Amino acid sequence: MYTKTTFGSLANRPVTAYTIENINGLRMTLLDYGATWYALEVPTHTGHQNIMLNTDLAGYAEPTGYFGKPLGRVAGRIGEGQLMMNGKPWPLPANEGTTTLHGGPHGYSTLWWQAAPANDQVTFTRTIPSSLDGFPGDLTASVTYTLTDSDEVHIDFTGTSPEETVFNPTNHAYWNLNATDETIGNHELMVAAQQRFEAPLSKVPTDHLLDVTGTPFDFTTPRQMGPQLAALRDTPERGIDDIYYIGEHDADQPVATLRCGDLGVEFYSKRNALILFTANKFGDELHFLEKKSRPYVGVALEPQTAPRAVVNPDFGDIRLAPGETGQAQLRYHFTY
Ligand code: GAL
Repeated sequence: MYTKTTFGSLANRPVTAYTIENINGLRMTLLDYGATWYALEVPTHTGHQNIMLNTDLAGYAEPTGYFGKPLGRVAGRIGEGQLMMNGKPWPLPANEGTTTLHGGPHGYSTLWWQAAPANDQVTFTRTIPSSLDGFPGDLTASVTYTLTDSDEVHIDFTGTSPEETVFNPTNHAYWNLNATDETIGNHELMVAAQQRFEAPLSKVPTDHLLDVTGTPFDFTTPRQMGPQLAALRDTPERGIDDIYYIGEHDADQPVATLRCGDLGVEFYSKRNALILFTANKFGDELHFLEKKSRPYVGVALEPQTAPRAVVNPDFGDIRLAPGETGQAQLRYHFTY
């Protein structure tokens, strides 16, 4: 069952919200602007509780307003804003110094999408011409959000282009499972990765993997986040903004789990990396509807093919051959 409402308007265009509820009362709300995952509300004994960070349309329209948005064509950082296509450099527009972040200044998150709602899912589609986002090849893209009666959300991405291109999308949902205005310090996190990518201050990763064992980045067994983040408070990042390398793994096992009291999210993905970002420097420049913006107000877990695959095929293949359909799936299982 879905309902369609007018959410507001942005640049004189109406923004439509789609809410889907499953048989257990779990609810997912999506917006056509940005193909945004706006809310996930779990039924609790005191009513519905949204466990995602969300903001208003002005906040979503900010270039860094990635909250719950899909990131594409290529999530993560491409250093020096340049791809190599068939041995030739392909310059990209940059949006973070010389870096192309999250699809660049005209990536998925900044675009309007055509919505096709159904009983338990909404598919957002559009064409992204090369002349718009600066990547090679006109991309026909879709993002489908499905809410199942087994309390899972599936995000399925497809992309196809008549010319060779690159394709590595994900979603940038931020989670906070507290019913109160607390940070994620009291959440317990597991990340099924023993290694993370070394990255200089530019955050563009190198080929070098660092062992997390025994460090504040170690979540190989479930750990409370507060003490780990406290141990990183004096580092330049003041928390975690890291690419974990998961490598080959059993897709039936979660790549991460997040838990707080009775609420939990399990993250499933076949992809070989996961970005963990703990909103370390968030402050008054942002505002969220249900939580006060401050460091550690939410945590983003972004499964994707390792961003380093852009330059090193040892870390995965994100090339899309002409006419081939690229596919990627993220799965979230909610317990409450
Ligand atoms: C994350 C990235 C962070 C930051 C954030 C968006 O994926 O790792 O450095 O850019 O997205 O605010």
